[in-house]
Amino acid sequence: MAASNYGLMIGVMMISIFLASYTSADPDLLQDVCVADLSSGVKLNGFACKSNISADDFFFAGLAKPASTNNTFGATVSVANVNQINGLNTLGVSMGRVDYAPGGINPPHTHPRATEIVFVLEGELDVGFITTENKLFSKTIKKGEIFTFPRGLIHYQINNGKVPAAAIAAFNSQLPGTQRVANALFASSPTVEDVVLTKAFQVGTKEVEKIKSRLAPKK
Ligand code: GLV
Ligand code: MN
Repeated sequence: MAASNYGLMIGVMMISIFLASYTSADPDLLQDVCVADLSSGVKLNGFACKSNISADDFFFAGLAKPASTNNTFGATVSVANVNQINGLNTLGVSMGRVDYAPGGINPPHTHPRATEIVFVLEGELDVGFITTENKLFSKTIKKGEIFTFPRGLIHYQINNGKVPAAAIAAFNSQLPGTQRVANALFASSPTVEDVVLTKAFQVGTKEVEKIKSRLAPKK
């Protein structure tokens, strides 16, 4: 092969690698719409398309009002993903709303399939994410301000203010997935054996059992 052809080939490969990493969120769509048929037995990457669709398949009012924050963490995440808005299937986006009581926390978690961007509707939040090199990027954000949590990285928000806070979250996935770090390790089913946790966290069985019982799913 001539040297110029090698150059061209390497150029094309580099562009392909760049594009592949640049478009690494949900796959691109192949048609205008593909409203999810959640009841279909067909298994594929996403959901099968429904044949009779209407404007309501693209509509959701579930984030309009604050959710109750009367729970262990003093915060509630309300989601608007493909499960609530079936028309999001194949579109690569979704949203959420988080309401926080004073002192409320959205505990450390990750979204394996999406980058998240949050916009503060009310109040003030201390937010942060941790890189794979264990570097923390944190900031206090106020009403009207935005912060970003890169895909897959552990992040949190806490309302250290004296009044309730609320935020809208947007994701570049129809179904970002959420994995809370503490629940994944201490409240999985079946449970992770104590020795894994005592060694990982350098504590005793008593401490591990205590956390397990606090985080156990409510029956
Ligand atoms: C906030 O981090 C959220 O996932 O809604
Ligand atoms: Mn999040």
